[in-house]
Amino acid sequence: MSDFEPRIVGFLCNWCSYAGADLAGVSRFQYPTNIRSIRVMCSTRVSPHLLLEVFKAGADGVMVGGCHIGDCHYITGNYYTEKRIMLTKELLRLAGIEPDRLRLEWISASEGERCANVVADFVKKVRELGPSPIPRDSRLALRLDAATEAAKVFRLRLLSGKEIKLTGEGNAYGEKVDPERFGNILRNAAQEEFQRNLILELTKCSALSVKEMAKETGEATDATLERVVALRSKNLLALSVVEGMTPKYKAIIVGGV
Ligand code: FES
Repeated sequence: MSDFEPRIVGFLCNWCSYAGADLAGVSRFQYPTNIRSIRVMCSTRVSPHLLLEVFKAGADGVMVGGCHIGDCHYITGNYYTEKRIMLTKELLRLAGIEPDRLRLEWISASEGERCANVVADFVKKVRELGPSPIPRDSRLALRLDAATEAAKVFRLRLLSGKEIKLTGEGNAYGEKVDPERFGNILRNAAQEEFQRNLILELTKCSALSVKEMAKETGEATDATLERVVALRSKNLLALSVVEGMTPKYKAIIVGGV
């Protein structure tokens, strides 16, 4: 696809990466014009659901740029950024979208040339991946909706925000959680929230049986039934109709008809 020009959105922190991009400009380092830069005060201001919204809006790639580790103007902001990007990549993977369409880079204010090189390399990578499939694939778009809703869930936001403290300093009793174990906990939580939200997205427009849901989610029927029971107990899913012997469920839309 030689004439494909990737549309890339860049979130660059005010104190380092944005200044680095500025330096690239004044130093006349050439880089592709495919990136639209948005200045944020710290890279950690960009939450996972916002990044996913950008993909929903049709971006072919998203880049987040921040200060090098240890240099964040707000001391620990970029440590959290790293965790949030990991979570967002996991949600992209679950949705069926290439995680490589999202890139995190540390660029200091003095690294103008590096900034130009990083952008050029990312544009090349996205060019290889091709245009975002979201606008042409309604199934993927629905899965991305589910991933975006999952990213808003309090449990995931809490877990990704606590990782540094729990694996570094420990809990209230001073007990540290093994980083690998915490990573597994976070991945499992992301998977659960994604699947739950996928069921809700699937049943927003039409009532589905557990078997029909399982076909779409790719999970076993008994695992899907467990999720249906959990969603019903939270008043997020309701029995809509019984066809023959088969109950079908529909998402409860708050404020909907
Ligand atoms: S201020 Fe640059 S990453 Fe926090």
